[in-house]
Amino acid sequence: PRYIDMENKIPLHVGIIMDGNGRWAEKQGKSRNFGHRAGRDRMIGLAAHARDRGIKYFTVYALSTENLARPQKELDSLFGLIRRYFASNIKKLYKENAAVRTIGDLSLLPDDIAKLLTDGEKNSPQNAGFTVVFAIAYGSRAEILSAVNKAVERGEILDEAGFEKLLYTSGLPNPDLIIRPGGETRMSNFLTYQAAYSELYFTDVLFPDFSDAEFDKAIENYAGRNRRFGKI
Ligand code: IPE
Ligand code: IPE
Ligand code: MG
Repeated sequence: PRYIDMENKIPLHVGIIMDGNGRWAEKQGKSRNFGHRAGRDRMIGLAAHARDRGIKYFTVYALSTENLARPQKELDSLFGLIRRYFASNIKKLYKENAAVRTIGDLSLLPDDIAKLLTDGEKNSPQNAGFTVVFAIAYGSRAEILSAVNKAVERGEILDEAGFEKLLYTSGLPNPDLIIRPGGETRMSNFLTYQAAYSELYFTDVLFPDFSDAEFDKAIENYAGRNRRFGKI
């Protein structure tokens, strides 16, 4: 609906679970890898669009810890896409004063990819106007356990602020809105702690078909919600 005042209701941080690439490709008799390539292209388009909409943090769930148990052939093609994405897009993002950040367990990834991700973060502009956060080899359970284990090792009793510093997402605001295309209404181990008060938006549209207009629908839907955070 047009009457919603979008100006004041733009989420600061949007997370997206990029799901449905495989089914999108299989529906057309194509390989799952073809679907992942289309998903990568859509992700690039959406990041630019999210920025145009005034969103400051855009987190893309690209690979879960559970996805790492997929057949090696599919993983190799996903790793190939990640490599090429970083090789050809990172400079463009920097030029546009965008930063990249990775959340996940990089030790589970091939060494060269882990290095691309760490360097991508390290070389990012300071005070960027927009940050793309890549959740790669990411799992909330692993993240929470690693934070707990760090605290135990240090013998520390933590409050929320102290605990949040030990999460992969340290320094990032919590997601205001989490979008999941692809038809499943679950979180699949994405930002469990951080999403405690996130607004959730699910749609059957498969990720490669999740257009800028579909994204705007999600943002409009978000703008019409009343976030009470337990208050009245
Ligand atoms: C892409 O979607 C997300 C990744 C795990 C890389 P899927 O590969 O899960 O696609 P579907 O769900 O099988 O259609
Ligand atoms: C969630 O999608 C993970 C990513 C999009 C990276 P999945 O396809 O792995 O989720 P499930 O298996 O349907 O829960
Ligand atoms: Mg899936």
